Amino acid sequence: MTSTAIEGLTQTRDSINVDDLVEATHHVSLDEQIEYLVRNRQDISITRSRNRPTDLTGTDEEGLAFLPESSKRRMVADGVDISHGYPEVPGRSEIPVYVDQAHAIRDHDMPFTERALNADPQKKALLGAAEEVHNLTANIGTEITGLQLVDLTDEQKDELALLVAERGVVFFRNQKLPPKTQRDLGEYWGNLEVHPQTPHVPGLPGESVIWVDYWRKHGMNINFKNCNYGNFDVVRYGSVGNQVWHTDLVHERQPAGITHLHLDAIPEVGGDTIWASGYAAYDKLSEEMKKFLDGKKAVYVSAHSYLDRDDPFGGRKKVERVHPMVRTIPATGWKTLFVNRGMTKRIVGLTPVESDVILNYLFDVYERNADIQVRFNWKSDPGYGTSAIWDNRSTQHRTIWDHEGRISRHGTRVTSLAEIPYFDPDSRSQREALGLPITKEE
Ligand SMILES: [Fe+2]
Repeated sequence: MTSTAIEGLTQTRDSINVDDLVEATHHVSLDEQIEYLVRNRQDISITRSRNRPTDLTGTDEEGLAFLPESSKRRMVADGVDISHGYPEVPGRSEIPVYVDQAHAIRDHDMPFTERALNADPQKKALLGAAEEVHNLTANIGTEITGLQLVDLTDEQKDELALLVAERGVVFFRNQKLPPKTQRDLGEYWGNLEVHPQTPHVPGLPGESVIWVDYWRKHGMNINFKNCNYGNFDVVRYGSVGNQVWHTDLVHERQPAGITHLHLDAIPEVGGDTIWASGYAAYDKLSEEMKKFLDGKKAVYVSAHSYLDRDDPFGGRKKVERVHPMVRTIPATGWKTLFVNRGMTKRIVGLTPVESDVILNYLFDVYERNADIQVRFNWKSDPGYGTSAIWDNRSTQHRTIWDHEGRISRHGTRVTSLAEIPYFDPDSRSQREALGLPITKEE
């Protein structure tokens, strides 16, 4: 018996008795029955994130009604058809229900070209064309003015990839960036990530919509009090919005490399984002701790949850993937500390108690050392948007929800998936490679 047979029974359920239904479904495996229900009942909240509604699919007319005017203008100018609604939410027939289905997505080798390796180390084509290049802090974050991303040559794109790998995150204000161009840039830098659940710009899968106000309209409970609970205990309180320190898409076999968020609706005050450097976090550790962590592996989980086919009533499960905790970034050859509070679950080989103690310390290294962070306010001139392009391999980030949704914040994100994470025992830390002192004694 197939889901079609179930459909026949449910459609005529008024005319059959329960015993017949039980008898008929007896021949259908439990996981198939549940999958059928999830795919066909909008009111079943299983596979989406805890704080997000489930009853959305297709293009959303209601969303279009409160899409900020600046975002609307950007879409229309690029020929994006928003006449049927905004954003576009993947249909229920397409989303994974079981964790094995989600795990199977991109669970194969994807060729990846590290564009930064083609770049002139001096980056003359990029930096020479800029009006100003300004490091926002010593350890992370650079702002470039006087360049439009839409005009970059391939040579400049290669050099930008190298600059992003070196500086963690690079900012461009006052941009006119069509969504399609943003997606093309992402495809140049790696394998375009198309998320099975996240809403995207209509007709442009991979051009993900970052719009907390949208989820609030649909029931996400985020407020002044709870927006940072996850930074105290993410296991108990979860992540509401994007306030918990995290790295995107670490559950992928080939996780995110360059990620490009473009905000086209920016709060007058607030709505900043903070990034922290994984190179510097690694260099904050003692030599003994570095030795302990080099070569260790950890389990990384997805942001979204699914069901376990073998234990469908056992609660929601996340996709899990094992990666090295210290990874070497091919673009720079430097070692980075690849853990984050939101998505690193446990260290392989340690007891849960040992793992929690060490991971919590490592999260603190990232989160408490203000000298390895940059906080960025997205403000652009009226009519323009701002882009942040960062290396998800060697940084963490979080947003700040201090605007509390009073003024809309909307953006589009494109993620270029990179290499399978690896640890090269011969690679060096950033400060070793640059010849910078690490302790007073040295
Ligand atoms: Fe993120």
